[in-house]
Amino acid sequence: MSKLIIEGSHPLKGELEIHGAKNSALPLLAATILCHGQSCLHNCPALSDVEVSVQILRYLGCQAERQKKSLLLSADSISRYDIPDHLMREMRSSIVFLGAILARMGKARLSLPGGCELGPRPIDLHLKALRQMGVVIDESHGYLDCTTPHGLQGAPIALLFPSVGATENIMLAAVLAKGVTIITNAAREPEIVDLANFLNSCGAKITGAGEGTVTIEGVERLQGVEHRIIPDRIAAATYLAAAAVTGGCLELKHVETQHLGQILPMFEEAGCTVVAHRHTVRLQAPERLQPIKMVRTMPYPGFPTDAQAPVMAMSATARGTSVFVENIFECRYKHVGELSRMGANIKVEGRVAVVEGVFRLSGARVEAPDLRGGAALVVAGVGADGVTELSGLRHIDRGYESIEQTLSTVGAVIKRI
Ligand code: EPZ
Repeated sequence: MSKLIIEGSHPLKGELEIHGAKNSALPLLAATILCHGQSCLHNCPALSDVEVSVQILRYLGCQAERQKKSLLLSADSISRYDIPDHLMREMRSSIVFLGAILARMGKARLSLPGGCELGPRPIDLHLKALRQMGVVIDESHGYLDCTTPHGLQGAPIALLFPSVGATENIMLAAVLAKGVTIITNAAREPEIVDLANFLNSCGAKITGAGEGTVTIEGVERLQGVEHRIIPDRIAAATYLAAAAVTGGCLELKHVETQHLGQILPMFEEAGCTVVAHRHTVRLQAPERLQPIKMVRTMPYPGFPTDAQAPVMAMSATARGTSVFVENIFECRYKHVGELSRMGANIKVEGRVAVVEGVFRLSGARVEAPDLRGGAALVVAGVGADGVTELSGLRHIDRGYESIEQTLSTVGAVIKRI
């Protein structure tokens, strides 16, 4: 099993290009199932979650071929409507294929996504909405058997929670449905807007994406197009945190700074100088960071839950106490135990984590508990005294393109063995 060997305390300096967003690529790959002809997704990140999605598309009978940073896709030869257990288990977010398969094939059979490191991953909001659109769903023996006896019908859907995945699934089921679907309390993440932009380029009629109410007027047919995936805002936040905790100076290229609305002020509160233009961000860190008084994770445009762990790792050596409140997932503090092994002083009470800054962390043998927890341990490792051995890389490789190569280009001493 491979692991990262990180020698800490080297200030990160230089420039990084941010790869395409994982959480945009996945629903976009599902969306290509709806299109006739070829689609091409540019700036598609080389991540294991993208790989699994490509395997799912090929299993369904679609064509998928990578050409450098682009994926060429076609669903013209799609022949299956089920996702086998071993592929569903590799990636819970495969549930986003449900709406697309239903819209294209009229039926779908998926195994229920298992729980994950972030706690149970319920899909009740997805299923409630799809049932309102005329889907008959039989949940038994760990499988979802879905049919649409009268086809997919547009419907007014009020989401109890602005779920990203549920909003995406409803959009994918609605674009070819009969009639109009109106989603209220929809998720407003940039990835939702990216998906709507792609679908509209293919001929869909979606308005309001990125706001609380999304309206989708069903159309007859969608034609594949070329599309450039937005940059990964969470990868951007992660690399900024790594530079900040090492007292470094980092310039990010190919970012959408408007997607970092709640993140950049956090770095300024921590004592960093941040200069942001439309597609670049430059961060200059102080010798030692200030604490961040309160970080509350919220649906977009609030502070993103995916950035909580990397920012917590950064605040572990600040001059004072930082408080985190994780409002989105019920157990997203698995990285706290591992950070404590490196000398962090963090107390967790339910959704609240109180981080007392210590002078330095010390390198240790730690294990990534999940994707963003693993990224947090890389941030902690580059800032720590001594050497950190980090295992569990399968988690990290889901969301970061070769994290060790990326960080090495800006001065980190880090290698994968
Ligand atoms: C997406 O997950 C992202 N994944 C997550 O990123 C991200 O943390 C999350 O949105 C929130 O921003 C992808 O886009 C592939 P949700 P998703 O549905 O869609 C509850 C990462 O690290 N809920 O908005 O699963 C759920 O349990 C990953 O890149 C229900 O109760 O998130 C959670 O507590 C992790 N019932 C909350 O809502 C449902 O039917 C937010 O979930 C659906 C969700």
